[in-house]
Amino acid sequence: MTINKNQVLEALSHVEDPDLKKDLVTLNMIRDLVIEDNRIAFSVYLTTPACPMKEMLENACRTAIAHFISADINVDIKMTSDVIIGKRKSEVMPNVKNIIAVGSGKGGVGKSTISAGIAALLSQSGAKVGLMDADIYGPSIPILFGVEDAIIEMDVVDGKELMRPINVEGIQLFSIGFLSKPNEAVVWRGPMVSSALKQFMNGVNWGELDYLIIDLPPGTGDVQLTLVQNLPLTGAVIVSTPQKMAVADARRACAMFKIAGVDVPIMGLVENMSYFTPPDAPEKKYEIFGSGGVDLLSTEFEVPVIGRLPIQMSIVADSDQGKILNSGNIRIFAEIAGKLVQQIAIESIK
Ligand SMILES: Nc1ncnc2c1ncn2[C@@H]1O[C@H](COP(=O)(O)OP(=O)(O)OP(=O)(O)O)[C@@H](O)[C@H]1O
Ligand SMILES: [Mg+2]
Repeated sequence: MTINKNQVLEALSHVEDPDLKKDLVTLNMIRDLVIEDNRIAFSVYLTTPACPMKEMLENACRTAIAHFISADINVDIKMTSDVIIGKRKSEVMPNVKNIIAVGSGKGGVGKSTISAGIAALLSQSGAKVGLMDADIYGPSIPILFGVEDAIIEMDVVDGKELMRPINVEGIQLFSIGFLSKPNEAVVWRGPMVSSALKQFMNGVNWGELDYLIIDLPPGTGDVQLTLVQNLPLTGAVIVSTPQKMAVADARRACAMFKIAGVDVPIMGLVENMSYFTPPDAPEKKYEIFGSGGVDLLSTEFEVPVIGRLPIQMSIVADSDQGKILNSGNIRIFAEIAGKLVQQIAIESIK
């Protein structure tokens, strides 16, 4: 039997990406197609290495070829990725494909923990990831990754001196905490925030990144507004705990990303500290902080809930000891990271 390229592409045009609602051929995901006698080889370029549907799509391609051409063909599929570039208003940081801010209205709801978890999971999936700690009042990223004592060195790139981020297991970290002493009180005014932020964006040797995650300070005041107005964001993730008091603050955070001139798409809501299951009573689920608030926001702003994390005692211990990456719990961030990158892809082709 002789097979030609058009037959293969026709067969694969029956495989649809369920998020993007188009077929893989139209989406230009099928590349490097080679046909030799009874063997077909091609690559599927996903929009992210963290694609939760990798296996499903590979199986769907095999099924399509078996069904529309023949079951008697050797099919060799390489599942790879070419990270999609999110829509952004500004050309600042052109080597960074997607910039995602993690914010909340309220303090202590888990922004830093979730920023670190997302960065870790995306990096483990094979993406190039940076994590910028924009919490200028209370930087936590150095503590979470156990690098409080790290010293920033300089690189010279195209004749310009740039600060080298701290690399922890492939994740590029930068924080004001690397530059100031922990007990130094810094009073930040609007213009200082803007100039510090410029340093974080243009004065750091980020290199090429698929995703830059930004851990924002809590609140929706002037500082936060200056940050979100000046960052070239692809989108935002809003973290909240379930109770009504926290949700009222999260609503203000959602609204801040929506104001004219900012207009950043909210990629998803994360409900943190959703419930507690005691280790010695795995059948029990206590909703310590109530429930339902985040779902209300989801309906109100038409934004998906991309994850719900239980209260886990080990998160606190691992974070305090700077072992967030080695935590046995790190996989709990997989769903959030996967849904976030799906949402980025969906927004990118809108
Ligand atoms: N799901 C969880 N289970 C248990 N503890 C958690 C969970 N999420 C976060 N924590 C803990 O709650 C505390 C606050 O978390 P984190 O620092 O991530 O919040 P934040 O929103 O960044 O705070 P801030 O507003 O001060 O920046 C930390 O001690 C963290 O370890
Ligand atoms: Mg924080």
